[in-house]
Amino acid sequence: MSPILSIKNLNKTFAGGFQALKNVNLDIHKGEIFALLGPNGAGKTTLIGCVTGLVNLTSGHITVDGHDIYKDYRKTRKLIGLVPQELAVEMFEPVLGTVNFSRGLFGMAPHPAHVESVLKKLSLWEKRKNSMLTLSGGMKRRVMIAKALSHEPQVLFLDEPTAGVDVELRRDMWKQIRELKSLGVTIILTTHYIEEAEEMADRVGVINKGEIILTETKQDLMQKFGKKELLLDLENSLDSIPEKLSHWDLKLKSEGRRLSYIYDAAKEEYSIARLLSDIASSGLNYKDIHVYQSKLEDIFIELVKDK
Ligand SMILES: Nc1ncnc2c1ncn2[C@@H]1O[C@H](COP(=O)(O)OP(=O)(O)OP(=O)(O)O)[C@@H](O)[C@H]1O
Ligand SMILES: [Mg+2]
Repeated sequence: MSPILSIKNLNKTFAGGFQALKNVNLDIHKGEIFALLGPNGAGKTTLIGCVTGLVNLTSGHITVDGHDIYKDYRKTRKLIGLVPQELAVEMFEPVLGTVNFSRGLFGMAPHPAHVESVLKKLSLWEKRKNSMLTLSGGMKRRVMIAKALSHEPQVLFLDEPTAGVDVELRRDMWKQIRELKSLGVTIILTTHYIEEAEEMADRVGVINKGEIILTETKQDLMQKFGKKELLLDLENSLDSIPEKLSHWDLKLKSEGRRLSYIYDAAKEEYSIARLLSDIASSGLNYKDIHVYQSKLEDIFIELVKDK
């Protein structure tokens, strides 16, 4: 299937000469949730700006559903929704007017029932007559989402949708995003909460200093880079690893009270049973056993470290 969004050889150099995007190539599949991760200043917002028409490309090509974003500007603009990182709203305008205006902006006929259902889903219906000024930060962010959904986009960009949002609302948003996916909407989100990507994304892309350094399905990523650590709380602390266990790559932690074994879960699924039996026959006793699985966050930090 041809990608819903295709970015080819994209470069962006800002007026001052700073190159924010370096030969970016990226295909997004219809209906997926793609999480774009990267440190501050990596180029995430610039990349989104290029696709949504807010930033001019220095070179490269971008198509949305096969249409060139320059040649078929009107078509592609209608297909895309954007929840920007920075709040950009008229502060004195009421919520309902703001959302209706957004829909009109994309050349869509008024559709009060759709707008009402969007506002209700985002728990904004009671606030529809309030001016933006009177909303809390999290509510303002929800209005940004309502705006983006008002014109029923096929591809939705969420640039840090849950920054500064409380835990409950974050979970609500995750639910919303999954619902959109089930309707066939393609979602590209950036986030600094790696947990969010781990929870939501089908595929993860990592950008660093303007370069996409990796795109993988979340599953492959966890499998390729994920590690597990087995920890045994020993009954008596040790000064060194017993000779009988020297062929295992074990480490002592917590002043000799813990034995640690880091392993690759995908490759060594049978080794743990052997290790435990070796430990038993070496005469070591332990009180408790823990297994830690590395999180997407650990993998991400490894990936952008020293680069
Ligand atoms: N209009 C501009 N003129 C010059 N440089 C810019 C402009 N906009 C962004 N940049 C630079 O481009 C780089 C990428 O910025 P961008 O906003 O895309 O980062 P980001 O990955 O979204 O970061 P964050 O996680 O902080 O939102 C930064 O070094 C930034 O200073
Ligand atoms: Mg940004």
